Amino acid sequence: MKLSKKVIAAVMAAMMLFSLTACGGNSSTPASSTDDAAPAADTSNDEAAVVDEAADDAEQAAQEAADSAAAAVGEGGNIGVCIYKFDDAFMTTYRNALQEILEGKGYTVTFMDGKNDQAEQNNQINNFIAQGVDALIINPVMTSAADQIIATVKDAGVPTVLINREPTAEQMSAYDKLVYVGCDARQSGTMQGELILDTVNKGDINGDGKVSYIMIQGDPENIDAQYRTEFSVKALTDAGIEVEELDLQRGDWDRNKGQEIAQNDLAKFGDEIEVVFCNNDDMAIGALQAIQAAGRTVNEDIYLVGVDALDAALNEVANGNMTGTVLNDAKGQAEGAVAAMEELLGGKTYASGEQSIYVDYVKVTPDNVTDFQ
Ligand code: BGC
Repeated sequence: MKLSKKVIAAVMAAMMLFSLTACGGNSSTPASSTDDAAPAADTSNDEAAVVDEAADDAEQAAQEAADSAAAAVGEGGNIGVCIYKFDDAFMTTYRNALQEILEGKGYTVTFMDGKNDQAEQNNQINNFIAQGVDALIINPVMTSAADQIIATVKDAGVPTVLINREPTAEQMSAYDKLVYVGCDARQSGTMQGELILDTVNKGDINGDGKVSYIMIQGDPENIDAQYRTEFSVKALTDAGIEVEELDLQRGDWDRNKGQEIAQNDLAKFGDEIEVVFCNNDDMAIGALQAIQAAGRTVNEDIYLVGVDALDAALNEVANGNMTGTVLNDAKGQAEGAVAAMEELLGGKTYASGEQSIYVDYVKVTPDNVTDFQ
């Protein structure tokens, strides 16, 4: 906040001094060449000295402005970060990574908990703007609020990095100092399907010629939930496998809901369930509790896959209690978000259609799980 005001003040001072210098001499003095102004102008030596001094001051002010701008980019800038809700397992890992990177680089960073309430987050964004933050990093509560968020930050001229919940390219094209850093959720869905295809019976445990599954979905408003749901199953059908959806329910990324849905489905469908697809690991950990409580054994009579590679899930993959997961690289995304933010602070603008920066997902199985632990 302080820095951007300093930058503006210094730039304005420099501009004023330059224009004073340019206008200070004889009206025949060319405005573009202040250094030549004094000798060319029909003025006394004293007046020439004043003009020279003004030029020096202008140069110094311009240098200070450049130094301040560099400081805002490298160190000491104020960054506001809005997280959709603190009480989300994956976003907690992501938030910790962001904090470590930003503070390690000398930024002052404030995190706000949107509490899964878009109105609350809108207030937080407005407050950050009123405080004059140098840049914003926003994990929107609702992807459908993207237009409003983008209009707000554009109006304020604050460089902004959106994370985790991707708006459309068209929405982002409204503001060229805005970029999205995240992952292509289609990739994670496809990898979940591949984890099932890689099992000995390609998911068809009971050998009836089809894979019968339940799908525990994240918040369906979120593109990650939509794509993972679609592309996990598509990987199977693309491989020529017949599928049967026994149930699809929203678990809103939440462990307890994952547990409840799996428990109800296991009671209802019993051995018919061969695969439990969960859009994230937290719900998969909940589902695992229900699977174990029902006396079923993962990788023997049921398969279970998630996404994120949370520590708890990595342990379960290593122990054979989860078939696999997919690394949702929180650290890589946090690094990407900070790098993009610094480019924006350095003056970079993004052309329409080039505002999404993706970090790759990675499949995690018992074979490579130790690489991630
Ligand atoms: C993660 C989920 C998380 C969600 C929040 C997804 O990319 O996989 O674990 O709850 O983002 O938006």
